[in-house]
Amino acid sequence: MAKIFISGVAGFLGSHLADRMIENGHSVIGNDTLEGGYKDNVNPKVDFHKVDCNDFEAMLKLTKGVDIVYHTAAFAYEGLSVFSPNIVSKNVYQNTVSLLSAAIQNRVKRFVYCSSMARYGKNRVPFTEDLEPRPQDPYGIAKVAGEMQVKLLCDIHGVEWVIAVPHNIIGPRQKYDDPFRNVASIMINMMLQGRQPIIYGDGEQKRCFSFVQDCVDVLEKMAFDEKAKSQIVNIGPDEEFVTINELAKTIAGLLKFELKPEYYPDRPQEVKLATCSADKARKLFGYTTKYTLKQGLQEMIDHIKKRGAKKFTYHIPLEIINEKTPKTWSEKKF
Ligand SMILES: NC(=O)c1ccc[n+]([C@@H]2O[C@H](COP(=O)([O-])OP(=O)(O)OC[C@H]3O[C@@H](n4cnc5c(N)ncnc54)[C@H](O)[C@@H]3O)[C@@H](O)[C@H]2O)c1
Repeated sequence: MAKIFISGVAGFLGSHLADRMIENGHSVIGNDTLEGGYKDNVNPKVDFHKVDCNDFEAMLKLTKGVDIVYHTAAFAYEGLSVFSPNIVSKNVYQNTVSLLSAAIQNRVKRFVYCSSMARYGKNRVPFTEDLEPRPQDPYGIAKVAGEMQVKLLCDIHGVEWVIAVPHNIIGPRQKYDDPFRNVASIMINMMLQGRQPIIYGDGEQKRCFSFVQDCVDVLEKMAFDEKAKSQIVNIGPDEEFVTINELAKTIAGLLKFELKPEYYPDRPQEVKLATCSADKARKLFGYTTKYTLKQGLQEMIDHIKKRGAKKFTYHIPLEIINEKTPKTWSEKKF
């Protein structure tokens, strides 16, 4: 059995991944600053450390004797990154270099890096892995720079690497009191408080949501499968597209909520149509989806109801406040 290190283990994806690894008999050690996750997401069997990936000495200690590193820790704030580029870059790019350097020094076998579909930016859709990255916001730029470091340093020093490209993952344990991201969780939290959801633009932007357990199936293979070595692979479905308006309607239907969304101007750099092809994941790993959007949303609703709806907290500072900054953030509308 392997010893697995998961950064961001209190986060949404990291905590589900830890559960799966433990279920399969591996030992899991992990870290998180708890800025984007919840402590009670962490499986009690995880050797948990509340420490920042930017703390190189700590990373050096924690990755000793580790076989596989999953790097999920990040400030996953694409829209906000246009207004808080400094803090987002530090916690997407710089934290990657810190953990990567420590992992290489400790001669881990494989480094699995969580990138993002933000790497594709304004490319044609559906996004396929062979496209030249064209990120168009600081979050996407930081993710691509992280990928480049992972490939370069791992190749030089003989560590296997895999780049996972998840997109629009939903499911229980996602932060839902965060005004800056996670549209489905935000909508559920607002409607449970009897409040109308906020939609940017006309709401006709299209997305394809993936349920977290479906993603974990692929991520698991990325640690152990020979075929995953030196591959960049999209993770998420390419079948069930919805507009943000339709998403709001579906959630309202499940909650029996009378819907009259509040519309705000588009956020800068928001892509109208962002979809990834899942062909490569299907071919390499036999990827299939087991959850429909409705099933996924129902599980999230049950989870948030159990934890209780929460007031939103503006826990990340806005670095740039001007006429382009969404009023939902500068005037704390959530
Ligand atoms: N969820 C998605 O739809 C999605 C889509 C594309 C990419 N991703 C990527 O997948 C990864 C996991 O995303 P998620 O949805 O689970 O996000 P998440 O915010 O739920 O989890 C990330 C965790 O990392 C922690 N963290 C952030 N910076 C840290 C640091 N410097 N040191 C230690 N811990 C730190 C946060 O506190 C949080 O708990 C991220 O890298 C994200 O960019 C996610």
